[in-house]
Amino acid sequence: MSTHYKHSDHFRKIAPAYQSLRITDEEPITYIVHQLKSLTAIKAADIGCGTGRYTQLLFRHLRDKIRFIYGIDYSGKMLGQFNRRFAEDGIRVPGTIKASAMCLPLSDESLNCIFTFNAVHHFALLEFLHETARILQDGGYLFVYTRLRNQNSRSVWGRFFPLFTSKETRLYEEDELKESIAKIPSLRLQKTRTFEFNRKSNLERLSYQAKSHHYSTFGLYSLSEFKRALNQFHDNLRDYFGDPNNIRWVDENILLILQKEG
Ligand SMILES: C[S@@+](CC[C@H](N)C(=O)[O-])C[C@H]1O[C@@H](n2cnc3c(N)ncnc32)[C@H](O)[C@@H]1O
Repeated sequence: MSTHYKHSDHFRKIAPAYQSLRITDEEPITYIVHQLKSLTAIKAADIGCGTGRYTQLLFRHLRDKIRFIYGIDYSGKMLGQFNRRFAEDGIRVPGTIKASAMCLPLSDESLNCIFTFNAVHHFALLEFLHETARILQDGGYLFVYTRLRNQNSRSVWGRFFPLFTSKETRLYEEDELKESIAKIPSLRLQKTRTFEFNRKSNLERLSYQAKSHHYSTFGLYSLSEFKRALNQFHDNLRDYFGDPNNIRWVDENILLILQKEG
């Protein structure tokens, strides 16, 4: 069955609207900043940086410590938005690199921090972990921020949007992430931290987000499937919440902190 459009096109098409469609949470960044308090000079990359909403937050919080931070993504359109937004913010534009997360054009042991937000499920995980292990210096950190499959299933989309959970098979569970990490001898999982965010929205906004494909998952529906699912989503929300202007749920994410050991 054909889907709305090819998945590889998703980030190219959504780039201009991406940031206005997604919710950006500051809490994981303040947590990361705290973890990095003893590091005085940060040499970093944000892989799958997209429009740079989290790179920008890192930059704002760690400005004095950051020697450089590369925004790396395989979508030129997302990187175009990244550069625009940094320029609008009036801050020095960090370097951007158009590259695959599985083949990073960075030297061995050249960074002490690698970040990836909401992107790891798009990567070939083991290849990505091998690349980060190659590029990190001893003692360097890899921060992986993502939502797990089970967290996705408890979101407003997982609970009320038909087929959302069964279509989204790319996300990992925590034990799957841990199994892959265990296969890379030099990477140690130091900590995991779960985040919960109380959300409130309305039917109109949620419907707009889905129609705009704010999650790439929606590109995995055929047009007719999507139309049916959206109508059912409306009915499900009305039945469950009553008031279409008072839709509440909890979003969950996980942060994994890995360290390279010599
Ligand atoms: C859901 S977006 C997240 C963007 C950003 N980190 C954020 O949280 O807003 C996923 C990003 O990963 C990028 N991406 C997907 N697969 C990739 C790959 N194999 N190599 C590099 N970037 C990739 C996409 O182009 C997109 O910008």
